[in-house]
Amino acid sequence: MRMYDIIEKKREGHELTKEEIDFFVKGYTDGKIPDYQVSALLMAIFFRKMNKRETVDLTKAMLNSGETIDLSAIKGIKVDKHSTGGVGDKTTLVLGPMVAACGLPVAKMSGRGLGHTGGTLDKLESIKNFKIALKREDFIGNVNNINLAVCSQTANIAPADKKLYALRDVTATVDNTSLIASSVMSKKLASGSNAIVLDVKVGSGAFMKNLDDAFLLAEEMVDIGNSMDRNTVAVLSNMNEPLGYAVGNAIEVKEAIETLQNRGPKDLVELCLTLGSRLLLLGNIVDNIEEGRKMLVEVIENGKAYEKLLEFVEAQGGDVEYVKNPELLPKAEHIIEVESEKEGYITSINAEKVGKCALSLGAGRETKDSILDLSAGIILNKKVGDKVNKGDVLAYIHSNDINTGEKVSFSLKKIIDVKANNDKKPKLIYGIVDNKGVKRL
Ligand code: URA
Repeated sequence: MRMYDIIEKKREGHELTKEEIDFFVKGYTDGKIPDYQVSALLMAIFFRKMNKRETVDLTKAMLNSGETIDLSAIKGIKVDKHSTGGVGDKTTLVLGPMVAACGLPVAKMSGRGLGHTGGTLDKLESIKNFKIALKREDFIGNVNNINLAVCSQTANIAPADKKLYALRDVTATVDNTSLIASSVMSKKLASGSNAIVLDVKVGSGAFMKNLDDAFLLAEEMVDIGNSMDRNTVAVLSNMNEPLGYAVGNAIEVKEAIETLQNRGPKDLVELCLTLGSRLLLLGNIVDNIEEGRKMLVEVIENGKAYEKLLEFVEAQGGDVEYVKNPELLPKAEHIIEVESEKEGYITSINAEKVGKCALSLGAGRETKDSILDLSAGIILNKKVGDKVNKGDVLAYIHSNDINTGEKVSFSLKKIIDVKANNDKKPKLIYGIVDNKGVKRL
């Protein structure tokens, strides 16, 4: 078999066989096929696309390129949740303790972020002494004892995806449905859960900018999961404005703590109830969605979800005083108020642009070696649909560099759009995709 022929076949729009897909994935992972040939193939796939069978075979080839995690030592059905990535997305920090408090085991391998802010692991490291590297027996032990553990990915999961994703990133071939679906699902399928809930973000701050593309991606991922015997459900959610108010690391942890104390932003709470009820249903903890929502509201109101967060932080060596008193979390030197220059209603807060501002403050990584400023970020004071008066604070910028903070303040005034008349609150959940099909809401 020759790589040249595989590139030419896809360039002409033909379907690749399983053997051809296995050949290029293995050859590239082993370093036998050069970047330039794989780049050409990726571009051919980008334009000519892959069908469902090819996408499933690509997923399997990447999944089989590395280790898979065995979670069979954990009792019960293991359900994983994955977000395709957004701005202000602290869902895992809230959802983990919520569903664990309902009796569902959560064994989550998480990543650091190369996005506008850090990933879940970076955020958790705002809590003093919190350990993200757990030995396998401690990871399993914690889940069996308290239903919850989150740790860094130590195993060599889907190394083919790591190489291919890095190449896609620099060859303008990221946003193809089959390539994204196979990339996400190869990692999810390797991490040992029995069922998967996907949070597919749609909007300015997401990979998927329009709803039809997002539904196609969701369908593709759900099909891949179900074809490999993992009950998979996707929830499509709005990422046009940031989720909640906080965009950063320590400030997102604080917002997550407040949410578990029943003082959370409406959109974040609603998303956690939607995703959480699906998780509880897939995990056989409840018989229907309504029962799941009721149970989740209960553990927030009776404090059990917050107590679970304390247990979780303690079990991973973190200082629980940081949770009880979030003022101890890393704090920026300057807090700059961004004031509205006019009266009206907020009509848009472009999530991607807010994310870029947070990145420039140091909340995210420009390159994989960048050092994060855990204290930096933006706390919105208003959301789309809110009324504002001239002089009202629109956002607070947390920065350790006054000049960068001032520049971000100038940008945010343009990003947070105030118009005379529009108090419409945006829709949060666009639809659900599961093995019964697509439900647009
Ligand atoms: N996230 C992934 O893991 N892979 C993609 O291709 C896009 C987003």
